[in-house]
Amino acid sequence: MKWIENNIGDLKGKTIIVTGGNSGLGYESSRLYTKYGATVILASRKESRGTKALNQIKQEFPKGNIELMLLDLGSKNSIEQFVANFKQKYNQLDILLNNAGIMAPPYESTTDGFESQIGVNYLGHFYLTGLLFPIIKKTKNARIINISSIAHRFGQIDLNTFVYQKENAYNKSKAYAQSKIANIFFTKELARRIEAHHLDTLVLSAHPGISRTNLFGPTSKFNLMMLISQNQYKGCLPGIRASIDPNAKSGEYYGPRGLFSFKGFPKKEHLKNWLIIRRFLQHFGNKVKSFFSLILKYKSDITTILI
Ligand SMILES: NC(=O)c1ccc[n+]([C@@H]2O[C@H](COP(=O)([O-])OP(=O)(O)OC[C@H]3O[C@@H](n4cnc5c(N)ncnc54)[C@H](OP(=O)(O)O)[C@@H]3O)[C@@H](O)[C@H]2O)c1
Repeated sequence: MKWIENNIGDLKGKTIIVTGGNSGLGYESSRLYTKYGATVILASRKESRGTKALNQIKQEFPKGNIELMLLDLGSKNSIEQFVANFKQKYNQLDILLNNAGIMAPPYESTTDGFESQIGVNYLGHFYLTGLLFPIIKKTKNARIINISSIAHRFGQIDLNTFVYQKENAYNKSKAYAQSKIANIFFTKELARRIEAHHLDTLVLSAHPGISRTNLFGPTSKFNLMMLISQNQYKGCLPGIRASIDPNAKSGEYYGPRGLFSFKGFPKKEHLKNWLIIRRFLQHFGNKVKSFFSLILKYKSDITTILI
């Protein structure tokens, strides 16, 4: 059965933080959480962009409970300030949607000096979650959702380049994939530790398939991508499902149900399946490579025989 917006239900009484709430999936998630009655904190790194998004949502849902708080995940100070502001006003946090992210920019570092993708996509959210954890764990059945990506399938954690130093060559796609794997490992490990402490907090991860957002640049035309991608509204649903589905369990991973999980309505995914497929492709790829290098090695002999 399709999991659609109607499954969301009443969110009155829930307090929710959405990082990167001013754009793309974060915007759509903030919009839906507001629509269904939650108190939403739209976290944005830029005041102007945050205000614009906030006003749009308020215009659509004038009675909605939504407010803007500034948060730059590349800055330890900004994260601390955000948490202090939040704690001043709220004493519960039902859902923390760790959504903000950047993809494959040229090399740059965060205010704190980390390579920007690992810094924003993973380390910033790690620190934010840690600082908010005291309030999360005292909220009944709270959830932490980390937004990952299908890009995690193509990456691996390399401890030598995890935090890029000047001497490491920078590969922007590898750095993105690595940050998105880190989101999943963080989910799994935090879920394990929370369970070991018998807390009722759930931690899950989700991904939006391929969704047409500013992640691909504000002027992307998406001509060819239209076929394999979906709009940002549909892209936000896996994260929303992970955050509220009563049957979801800690450590699980949600994504679109279509071919290769590029698009479609959200479903639970099995991370192990991708590990098996990846191992198979690596193995198969190596066999193909050695076949062709053998051919190249004996090329002249083969040509002679064939002629
Ligand atoms: N779209 C896809 O196909 C796709 C696929 C896989 C995974 N994802 C993941 O989905 C998440 C949301 O991306 P999106 O597609 O919605 O892209 P988006 O429209 O570009 O939104 C990204 C959000 O993250 C914010 N952000 C960037 N750097 C930040 C920082 N230092 N501190 C705080 N916020 C920051 C952006 O703020 P500004 O507006 O100020 O830049 C924006 O609000 C990301 O984690 C991305 O990796 C997306």
